This record gives sequence, structure tokens and C-alpha cells, in this order.
Amino acid sequence: MLSSSSFLLFILIISANPCVRAYNEGGNGIAEEFEDVKRSDFPAGFLFGVSTSSYQIEGAILEDGKSLSDWDVFVRKIGNIKNGDTGDTATDHYHRYMEDIEIIHSLGVDAYRFSISWPRILPNGKSGGVNAAGIMFYNSIIDNLLLRGIQPFVTIYHWDMPQVLSDKYGGWLNPLIQDDFLHFAETCFKNFGDRVRYWVTINEPNTVAECAYEWGKHPPGHCSPPLGNCSAGNSDTEPLIAVHNMLLAHAKASKLYREQFLPKQEGVIGMVLHSFMFEPLTDDEHNKEAADRALAFNLAWALDPLVFGDYPPEMRRYHGNELPKFTSEERLLIRDSIDFIGLNHYSTLYAKDCIHSSCSCSGSACLPGGDRAILGFVSTSAENGGVLIGEPTGMPRFSVVPRGMEEIVDYTVNRYDNKPIFITENGYSSPLQQDQLDDLQRDVKRIEFHQAYLSSLARAMRNGADVRGYFVWTLMDNFEWSFGYDVKFGLYSVDRATLNRNPRSSAKWYRNFLRNISSNGMKPRTAFSLWNKVGRAEEE
Ligand code: NOJ
Repeated sequence: MLSSSSFLLFILIISANPCVRAYNEGGNGIAEEFEDVKRSDFPAGFLFGVSTSSYQIEGAILEDGKSLSDWDVFVRKIGNIKNGDTGDTATDHYHRYMEDIEIIHSLGVDAYRFSISWPRILPNGKSGGVNAAGIMFYNSIIDNLLLRGIQPFVTIYHWDMPQVLSDKYGGWLNPLIQDDFLHFAETCFKNFGDRVRYWVTINEPNTVAECAYEWGKHPPGHCSPPLGNCSAGNSDTEPLIAVHNMLLAHAKASKLYREQFLPKQEGVIGMVLHSFMFEPLTDDEHNKEAADRALAFNLAWALDPLVFGDYPPEMRRYHGNELPKFTSEERLLIRDSIDFIGLNHYSTLYAKDCIHSSCSCSGSACLPGGDRAILGFVSTSAENGGVLIGEPTGMPRFSVVPRGMEEIVDYTVNRYDNKPIFITENGYSSPLQQDQLDDLQRDVKRIEFHQAYLSSLARAMRNGADVRGYFVWTLMDNFEWSFGYDVKFGLYSVDRATLNRNPRSSAKWYRNFLRNISSNGMKPRTAFSLWNKVGRAEEE
């Protein structure tokens, strides 16, 4: 399935597009040039898609036999989520999934990445039965996608686990959760695997570690000072334990799939990591080393074990006994347990060394803890001397830095011998000040974001990177975790009162792009300098 012949052909025929434009001319952040890209610049068989996840869109939190997830409970604690938002209704996808599938189809994508809600199909984990209504729901999604020629690209776990398991195990802290996850994965393979060819076991274990066990911003809300003030947790050690259990849970699921399901089902299985790119804050050698270290402590943390069977040497060097060890049996189990690497890439941060110089930091774009082993003794920030690394978006640390796409792909290619990669998420969240008219009708920034990042991706591919697909995050505005509904990444906006979906201009752009209609036809007409001065786009 992951044959490389069309990919090689692509490398031979692709040629640089002479049309060069700049992202963020005169804006608040560093400008970057990019070439126009077309769908035909990508090889045959390359999957273009859109991504979502269960908790962020489904709603229906207690319907048809579903039990409460840890997120359903976490959002109810005052102060955990902006504006007190919850996923109780989310985008009501559970009731509107047919409409959403029509929308996905209308975009002309090849694939749709979505996740399975663990409490919807196994309300009590492995000690309870399978919820037939939950299975029916996902069967209907899969069947309707396939009927329309769209490949289901399924994430098994995208952050919502049954609350009963969170209570029982403290989330990912107890090794016993590995077998509960294995049962969840097996249930998915058994019920859906006859039609699903692309499996992701776990979405962003590195983000789960950071947000749930380091900063305490996701359930179970664990952390300790100076990284956060939570009633329980240890920010220096629990993230390491959580990732260890997720890696072993993945490895068991991957072995089971390959031994028992692959021969008949012929799919591929991988894991998805969040992947910031890091650049040294200055040319200083120590900061260059810090940028390398940050990559090891973020991306290689999971990928080295999945490919080579052990944690990165960089982590072994700086961690003591708190970094868990794999037994020799576990090393064999986890080594080479992925067929592809899924990268969720949004942005690039500056990295500053905290071994040879002190790291005090202030400002919203900078986080404490750079002077600790858990962060690799690296302080990361989106700004340098008050200047952002790229144009701001709705997320504080997600500036627009298109070159980072090529750089993170290059890093992954070099470290993992050009293992197949899918860009499983890439997207732009509108800055909060964007007014509604502008948001719906122009949507220029989101379009340029995707053009610039795709252009950067195409550069990496021209240099030989074996990338097999690209998924836009996200189909429609949804529950953006601790940011609630304020942060909007969607190609479609969702009216919070009516829950009606409305295409943004970027949805029309993506549709045209996928039909190989040149992006020149949609040339944006924005004066970027004015955008930044008055907070909204002005026509040239
Ligand atoms: C990563 C996560 O997978 C997704 O759930 C989230 O909404 C996006 N990034 C944007 O933050």
C-alpha cells in the first residue's frame, strides 16, 4: 500500500513553480517567500484530507449508552476551560454526521481523519461490554465515507478516555492501562478493520504528557510548581511515566494488529506526534545545541523508541532514574512498531539553552520550567526581543512559520531514514480580533497559511522526503480543548447558536486546490501592514 514508485516518479517530474509570493509582507513577524503550489505538484496516491477528533465535535455525551469521558468531567471544574465551555454538544456531529460527510465529500478530499470515542464503544473499559450503538455510529461513518470514495484514516485514541478508567488508573500513570487500551484497539480492529486501511493508535502522546501531567491543563490535571499549581502530580516525572505507558500500549496494539488482523485487513499502523520545529534563539553554539535538544525531548522522545527501541540518547544523558527503562523484551516489542510517522505540525519556536546560562522568562509567549530536565534544559519562546517568530494566530505559541514545515520534515527524514510520513494536522486559527464579515468572506490568512505550508512541504518532497499525505486541521470550528470555542481552526465556521456550518473562503480554496485550479485564481487582496495596525484586513 505504501509503494514508493509513484513517489519516485514525482521526485523526477516535479519542478519549482516560478511564481513566488511572500507570507506576511510587512506584518508583525518574519516574512517568508513561498511558491504557488498545485495538487498536481504532489504525487499520485498522495492523500489530501481533513482531520477532526471525537470529543472536539461529537457532543451527545451521554446518549445511546456512552459513558462519561475524562474530558466530560474535567470541563465541569470551574476555571479549567475558557468561558466554561464544554463538549456536551460540541458541533453536534453525532446527530449531524451525514451532513458533515456531505461537506467532506464536497471538498473533494481523498481521506478523512477522525477518532473513535473510547467511552462510546467501551463505556466501562475492558471489564464491560461493547456498546452496539457506538459501533453502529462509526460503522455508518466508515460506510458512508467509502461509498463516496473517501478513505477513513482512523485515530483510536484522541484524548478522551472513559472516566472510570481515569479514576481507576490515574489516566496513563498506571501500567495496567496498557491492556485496557489494547482491548480498545482490538475492538476497533475487529469491528472496523475490514474497511479501515489507515490506523493511528494514539494522537500526540507528547502533548498528553505536557498538557495533562506537566501543565495540568488537560485531564487528569496533574502538575507541580514551578510548572503549575495542581492538587496532585509531579511535573518532573509523571509526563515520562505517561508517555512510557502510551508507548507500550501502542506497541502491544501494533503487534496484535500485525499478527492477527494485517494478513486479512492489509492496513498500516502508525502514531501521531505533535512536532514544533525549533530554531536557536541566537547563533550561539549553546543555543544551537538547545534547539537540537528540544527536538529530541519533544519529537524523538516517542519516535526513537518506536523506530529504534529506546529513548533518545539526548534524554538518557540529562535524565536520571526518572526516565523509565524498557526491558529487553519491551525493546523488541516497541522497536519498528510503526509503518508511518504522523506529524501534526503548526509552528516553530525559538530555543534558548538553560545549561550554560540562566533562564528566567516572562511574557505570554514564554513558559517557565526551561531550567528543568523534563524540558531538556531548554527555554522555548515564540518571540525574540519582543518580535514574534512569525505572524500571530489565535493560539499564543502557534505563529505562522512556513519554513518550519520543510525543516521538521527534513529532521524526521534524516533521523528516521526517510520512513513514510503523513502530515496528519496542519492548520490556522484565526486571531480573536478578526471580525465576522472578514472571517467568513475573506479568510485570506488561512488560505495563505495553507499555501505557504504546502509550498514548504513540496520543497521537502522535492528533496526526497517520502511524505504520503496532508490533512487540514480542521473540517469545522470545534472545541479547542482548554481554549473552548474561542479558537477557530475550521475550513467551515460553526454558528454556536444554530450549529449551522458555513464554508469559509478557505473551504472554497481547498476545493479548488484539490481540483487543481491554480491558487492564482484566488489571489488574496490584503494589505498585511494594515491588518496588523487596525486589526482587520483592508483592501489594497
Ligand atoms: C493538536 C490536536 O491533535 C488537536 O486536537 C488540536 O485541536 C490541534 N492540535 C490544534 O491545537
